[in-house]
Amino acid sequence: MKTWDIQQMGAQPVIVQGCMRMPELSADAAARVIRCAFDLGVTFFDHATCYGKDGAAETRFGEALPLTGISREEIVLQSKCGLRFEEGLFDWSKENILASVDASLRRLRTDYLDALLLHRPDLLFDPEEVAEAFDQLEKSGKVRYFGVSNLMPLQIELLQKYVRQPLIFNQLQFSLDQSQLIDQALYLNNKTTEYSLMRDGGVLDYCRLHDITVQAWSPLQKGFFKGTFVDDPEFPELNRVLGELAEKYGVSKSAVAVAWILRHPAKMQVILGTMNPEHLADAAAGAGVSLTRKEWYSLYLASGKYLP
Ligand SMILES: NC(=O)c1ccc[n+]([C@@H]2O[C@H](COP(=O)([O-])OP(=O)(O)OC[C@H]3O[C@@H](n4cnc5c(N)ncnc54)[C@H](OP(=O)(O)O)[C@@H]3O)[C@@H](O)[C@H]2O)c1
Repeated sequence: MKTWDIQQMGAQPVIVQGCMRMPELSADAAARVIRCAFDLGVTFFDHATCYGKDGAAETRFGEALPLTGISREEIVLQSKCGLRFEEGLFDWSKENILASVDASLRRLRTDYLDALLLHRPDLLFDPEEVAEAFDQLEKSGKVRYFGVSNLMPLQIELLQKYVRQPLIFNQLQFSLDQSQLIDQALYLNNKTTEYSLMRDGGVLDYCRLHDITVQAWSPLQKGFFKGTFVDDPEFPELNRVLGELAEKYGVSKSAVAVAWILRHPAKMQVILGTMNPEHLADAAAGAGVSLTRKEWYSLYLASGKYLP
């Protein structure tokens, strides 16, 4: 989906507030997070059925939104389904997709989702069944737009062969520390480094070719949810360069890390997961920073890569 389409959805196109870490909050604290995001122009909220036990993140959000004075129509709500984490399985059956959307709508206290993504591939998925579910959801007005998360090009092609609606989002992990989406292109065919491994079937180029907007998840995390690399002594060189650029642009280091993702011409969205309104304001300021080519490469190198 091109940026103007996202604007048509009524959302600030660049920064998304992720709600994975919302289950621990009280309804009042969640309302503060939503209000702060909204006041910063961040009106796009990302959920999933598996965020918290029994969809606790969606439940908290549904309780909190009425406390903010913001109406449902002023925001964009996205959820993901297909990952039945607590039961240890993935499920893209028609029955589960339809039941998940109904449950999300109930918890979020709304009658439509702006976007529904399939969370992670169900190894047993039948694309025709998914197509039937999407048709039903579109026809009933329960879902406006559709997409996927953590999917490779051929899986998207297979789905898209049967699904009539365009798949407009692919949510993928991408950050200065977890930059596998772009590494392989640089180290192509080089057997001396792990960076040359093709791990995702060239999904970034595929998304660009097909106007699929990449939503970068965990943009500030090291590893897989191991804490943020910002100010982490394990990343001295990265933090040195982040600090220099933060000073130059008058923003925080997390804003520079966000700006690094946004500088990529794929026009990604960045999903920030902080539940601290100050951190959100700090990081979201990255949307206003335009890094030079040299600065972009200096951050990439400072994250531990080298030029082949
Ligand atoms: N599709 C998928 O498979 C998938 C997987 C994971 C996540 N997601 C989505 O991506 C969203 C973001 O993921 P994430 O929470 O891992 O991303 P993140 O924004 O990289 O990390 C947020 C975490 O970093 C902490 N943090 C520490 N210092 C910070 C600072 N200065 N600025 C900002 N954050 C700071 C936050 O704590 P504080 O709250 O204390 O600031 C929070 O615990 C999720 O909410 C979810 O919507 C999708």
